[in-house]
Amino acid sequence: MAERILVTSALPYANGPIHIGHAVEYVQTDIYVRFLRSCGKDVVYFCADDTHGTPIEINASKQGLKPEEFVARWYDSHQADFRDLGVSVDYFHSTNSPENKHYAEYIYGQLKDRGDIEKRDIEQAYCEVDKRFLPDRFIKGTCPNCKAADQYGDACEKCGKAYSPTDLIEPRCALCGTPPVRRKSSHLFFKLSLHADFLQETLRKPGFIHPGLATQLQGFFEQGLADWDISRDGPYFGFSIPGETDKYFYVWLDAPIGYIATTEKWAKTTGKAKSALDYWAEGSDARIIHFIGKDIVYFHALFWPAVLKEAGLKRPESVKVHGHLTVNGEKMSKSRGTLIPVRSYLDHLDPSYLRYFYAATLGAGVEDLDLSLKDFRLRVNGELVNNIGNLANRSLSMLAGGALEKRLAPATKEGPGKALVEAALARVPEVREAFEKLEYRNAIRIITEISQSANGFLQNAAPWAKVKTDPEAARADLSDAAEVAYLLGALLTPVIPLVTEKLFVQLNAPPLTFEALATARYPLLDRSRPVGTPEPLLPRLEEERVNAILGQPAAVEPAKEEKKGKGEKAEKKAAESKPAEAKPAAPAVEAAPGEIEIGDFGKVVLKVGKVLAAERVPKADKLLKLTVDLGEGQPRTICSGIAEAFQPEQVQGRNVVVVANLKPRMLRGIESRGMILTAGPGGKNLSLLDPGDMPPGSEVK
Ligand code: 2FM
Ligand code: ZN
Repeated sequence: MAERILVTSALPYANGPIHIGHAVEYVQTDIYVRFLRSCGKDVVYFCADDTHGTPIEINASKQGLKPEEFVARWYDSHQADFRDLGVSVDYFHSTNSPENKHYAEYIYGQLKDRGDIEKRDIEQAYCEVDKRFLPDRFIKGTCPNCKAADQYGDACEKCGKAYSPTDLIEPRCALCGTPPVRRKSSHLFFKLSLHADFLQETLRKPGFIHPGLATQLQGFFEQGLADWDISRDGPYFGFSIPGETDKYFYVWLDAPIGYIATTEKWAKTTGKAKSALDYWAEGSDARIIHFIGKDIVYFHALFWPAVLKEAGLKRPESVKVHGHLTVNGEKMSKSRGTLIPVRSYLDHLDPSYLRYFYAATLGAGVEDLDLSLKDFRLRVNGELVNNIGNLANRSLSMLAGGALEKRLAPATKEGPGKALVEAALARVPEVREAFEKLEYRNAIRIITEISQSANGFLQNAAPWAKVKTDPEAARADLSDAAEVAYLLGALLTPVIPLVTEKLFVQLNAPPLTFEALATARYPLLDRSRPVGTPEPLLPRLEEERVNAILGQPAAVEPAKEEKKGKGEKAEKKAAESKPAEAKPAAPAVEAAPGEIEIGDFGKVVLKVGKVLAAERVPKADKLLKLTVDLGEGQPRTICSGIAEAFQPEQVQGRNVVVVANLKPRMLRGIESRGMILTAGPGGKNLSLLDPGDMPPGSEVK
């Protein structure tokens, strides 16, 4: 039986849009998977939304949504982003699924039976107002080291010092501002320390992880591996732990189990396997390969193999780690507009440009990669459009032009054209090796060199001059150049499949694969077939269109994601939660300019609010600060630009219509959480929309 390979990308949190930083990983994985498929391998590729945890639970409640509803919205937009980026997952699932619950419980049961789970009492920060334990990222205060105000409970963003929340000066709950108290709770720990020998052996396996990272991870063993707290107290969005009361699996316990759950869902849906165990059973011959970012190595290289071993399941053969994306040389930032959602990119540019640029930049190491917008434009235009695209277009348009009647020349027995194609074919093993080793930038370098040599050949042969005097010689040169374009199509298919698909159609030739190339000889094209109709493969990138992907810089930095408990590495900070801003999937029928889909409107949550209090905002003539009851237990503060039309006392006690899921905004130093709907041109001439006497919190549809 053919060797089976299962490849995964890390699961994005269902807590915000997928941005171009995430896309590095999906593109990197997708290129690898498409390359393996082209080599004829039996490969499956899975990903899913990571749906559990405190930040998601809190963000859902801020939006007045159940966590299930909140994550369902992100699921649709994430799936559309994968599709439109050309990421060819075999299944995109969710960790909030029956399959994941089943495997989380099964694996936990195995760990418990094997004596890997221990209950211990621990003390944690607790907010008596919000009635919840507070993860470090939900506590703020003054840094004990540099005295910077408004720092999170785990580390100071100003001076970089790490500390515990109890060290903060004047700590307070990040949700309500109340000082937290310490409260005891019993938690369940996975005894990671028992598995140190196994893990060290795993890290030493050739190909398991980048050697530099294996050395770095040694540090954890020298300090002594800390056991891992896998439980959280309610309220928490996650799976409740069997046999316990109000305890939930920590999101990082069930997140990687999502890889197995997705395999199960795919197996059941497609019938291509009996169950996930075809791949994940200990004795399975499948090769499991994870792609992840450098911030989540600890989970994948230490916890995950130990959990899988104890549960009697197959461990990954390899964990491929990439660095992070910077934009124009700097960390991506919402306020600079560089935390670019994939959807904003796709609204302006073809995904092939980004896929090409990432491939041209990625190596197998863990160093960060930079999307300098200038380099992006110059490389794409210089290499992809002018070099590769031009070769295809030049040769095809002349062949298809009147005189040559779309016919290819018979293959020549010898000569510079044949030598050109053979030299290009001789480089295929180098390209293949570069893809295998994730040295994509080397693959792209070789590909552009091949293309350059073919363009040079055409330059010398000058078929545009020959066509008048010796059309058959011109046809022969152009046919050989078309051979190279065909070969480049095969080599670039993992990177820009949508472009090479068009190229194969224009050449009127079947898709060429790495598998076929292993034994291919000159000529590659069936010379008896006419070529198709040439068209430019990709337009040039214009500067304005590239800059348009930056969008509008936002006024407020995004809220930060939860980090993990003490002794663990930083949990990846996901993008800000704002489903109302997620763009919908491309509609089946094109909308006229200005028209929106019904689903767009559905994303706006409108509610009835009762204005409990209203006051003027000092030095702001247009603003009233309103305290509005939306039926959420705690009223919200909303700043509204209605002060010229209404005195505070005219608004107090009135029912209004509120956009309830608008991202909070800072207005004159006040955090405004929502928007009051009005009608009229503005200034003094405004009326408030009146929802009648419906109770606060009633939906407006
Ligand atoms: O860091 C993150 O974005 C996580 N959601 C990745 C989870 S990967 C796997 F473990 F599920
Ligand atoms: Zn609180």
